[in-house]
Amino acid sequence: MSPRLIVLDDAAAIARHVAAMFAGLLTDRPNAVLGLATGGTPVPIYQALIARHRAGEISFRDAASFNLDEYVGLPRTHPASFAYFMATTLFDHVDITPSRTHIPDGMATDAEAESARYEAAIAKAGGIDLQLLGIGANGHVGFNEPGSAFASRTRKVTLTASTRAANRRFFAGGEVPEQALTMGIGTILEARALVLVATGAGKAEAIARMLQAPPSPDCPASALQLHPDATVVCDREAARLLDGPA
Ligand code: GLP
Repeated sequence: MSPRLIVLDDAAAIARHVAAMFAGLLTDRPNAVLGLATGGTPVPIYQALIARHRAGEISFRDAASFNLDEYVGLPRTHPASFAYFMATTLFDHVDITPSRTHIPDGMATDAEAESARYEAAIAKAGGIDLQLLGIGANGHVGFNEPGSAFASRTRKVTLTASTRAANRRFFAGGEVPEQALTMGIGTILEARALVLVATGAGKAEAIARMLQAPPSPDCPASALQLHPDATVVCDREAARLLDGPA
């Protein structure tokens, strides 16, 4: 089962498409469980969702959310934490109920217990309906770096030097943490639907590997080939190394 591939002109078109997927879900199921992601790529999608909310088209009031990951050792108030990113980029601008938004606690002293708690919370919510994913240049999803088992669950991981370098831009000169808590590939594959977004030539190699190489933990995103309802939405630059008509 290969992921559906949708190639669009630019980030704005991707944002409209993916925001429409989430809006459709919220309209059909106001109490949907949303899987959310951080990074630069999803920002226009969140802006499109905020615009739809302001226009009265969608409400998050009865929805719940689970984010993929969080840095170890950053409090929620740290401007580079994913909790802070989600608050300022989406949650503060829509009517989502803060107690129904979930992000792993990077300050937890017992990472194993926190990971188990997170998995239990996802299960208790009934599982994730639609999980948004970005992709790292090395094929990582969430913070599942190359080598992550497809059966992996939420856990503490060590980040690669290239991932830390790519994310340094969010740290205003501060050090990027070496570790993170992330949903596992197995956790992500249990979401009922997946949508992975990618823009720019820097993601072209990862997109080609995830879609055209045999699924392997060497490219964690290639696990999406094993999911029955996965969609990849990217721009022409990110699609440029794919064989066949784009
Ligand atoms: C981080 C996140 C990933 C994200 C990736 C790419 O490492 N943990 O979930 O997909 O960055 O981010 P960007 O969209 O900024 O390229």
